[in-house]
Amino acid sequence: MNHFRAVIEGVGGYLPERVLTNDDLSTMVDTSDEWIVARTGIRERRIAADGETTADLAVAAARKALENAGASADEVDLIIVATATPDRTFPATATIVQQRLGVTAGAAFDVQAVCSGFIYAIATADNFIARGQAKCALVIGAETFSRILDWSDRSTCVLFGDGAGAVVVKAEPAEEGGSEARGVIGSYLRSDGRYGDILCVDGGPSLTKTVGHLRMVGNQVFRHAVVNIAEAMQTVADRAGVAVSDVDWFIPHQANRRILEAVAKRLGIDENKVVETLSRHGNTSAASVPLALDAAVSDGRVKKGDLILMEAMGGGLTWGAALARF
Ligand code: UT7
Repeated sequence: MNHFRAVIEGVGGYLPERVLTNDDLSTMVDTSDEWIVARTGIRERRIAADGETTADLAVAAARKALENAGASADEVDLIIVATATPDRTFPATATIVQQRLGVTAGAAFDVQAVCSGFIYAIATADNFIARGQAKCALVIGAETFSRILDWSDRSTCVLFGDGAGAVVVKAEPAEEGGSEARGVIGSYLRSDGRYGDILCVDGGPSLTKTVGHLRMVGNQVFRHAVVNIAEAMQTVADRAGVAVSDVDWFIPHQANRRILEAVAKRLGIDENKVVETLSRHGNTSAASVPLALDAAVSDGRVKKGDLILMEAMGGGLTWGAALARF
C-alpha cells in the first residue's frame, strides 16, 4: 500500500515572446494558413530568442508553479525535467534548473520520452512520492524544438513550437476515499520501439556527433496516436474504477486538433471538456500537457477537486495517460 499521495499544488507555464504565425511560415516554405489550420488547428507558435535555452524556459515555468503552489525552492527535493531538447548532451537540464533555483536537496534528472515526457515524469514523481522518497517534486516539461526543426521541411516545421510547463507535486498522507481524495490516482505508460523510425531525429551524439533534425511520417504517427491515446485513457480510467464520462477535464498532448476530435469521438467524450491550446502554440512536445493544464487552471476551468485525465503520445513510440484529482 502507498503511504503518500502526490498532490498537484501549483501549475505554471512559460512561452517565449516571439510569435511565428502561419502567414510568416508561408513566406518560408510552400504552405498556407488555410492548410495548417484545416489539417492541424495550429494558428501560431512561439520561438525561443537567440541564447534562450530549454533551461531558461523551464526555470520560468517552475518559478510560476512554485508561486502558485505557495511553495519555496527550499522545499523541493526532486526535480524531473521532461525534454528531448536539453541545453547540452549532459549535464541533465534538471540539474541546471536545480542550480538556477538554488535547490541543493534531493535529486534532479531528465526524462526522455519526447512528447510523452511529462506523463512519464509525473508517473515517476508519483512513484517517488508514494514510496516516501520525495516530499516536494517539481515536474517540468520544457522544449526548444525550434532548434531541431528542418526549416525547409513544410511537413514538420509548421507543427512545433517552444515552451515550458511545470507542476509542484507534494506528498500528502494517503487516506481512505479512493478516487475522491486529491492527488494522482493512477498512470499508465507504454512504448513500442518497433515504430522508432516514424518519428525521430536523424542525428545524435553517438550516431552522428550532431544534434540532427526532426523527421516524421505524419500520417502514420497520426493513426497510431488516435488508437494508442484512446487505449491509454481507457486503461487508466478502468484501473482506477472511474468511468471516462466521470472525468471533468481532459488535458491532452497538443499535437493536432483532429487527433483530439478523433479520440473524443472514439471514447464518447464531450468535446467541451477537452482543453485545447495548440492553436496558440503548436506542438510543444513535453511542455504541451502542463501548458494546457496551466491554461485551464488560470482561466478557472479546472478547479480543486476536479478529476483530470492527461495523455500524450510521441517518438519512440511512447504513450501514456495519468488520472488525477486536482
Ligand atoms: O507529438 C507527437 C505526435 N505527433 C503527431 O501526432 C502528429 C501526427 N500527424 C499529423 O498531425 C498529421 O499527419 C500532419 C498534420 C503532420 C499531416 O496531415 P495529414 O492530413 O496526415 O497530411 P499528409 O501527411 O497525408 O499530407 C497530405 C498532403 C501531402 O501532399 P500530397 O502528397 O497529397 O500532394 C503533403 O505534401 O499535404 C501536403 N503537406 C502540406 N501542404 C501544405 C504536408 N505538409 C504541408 C504543409 N502545407 N505544411
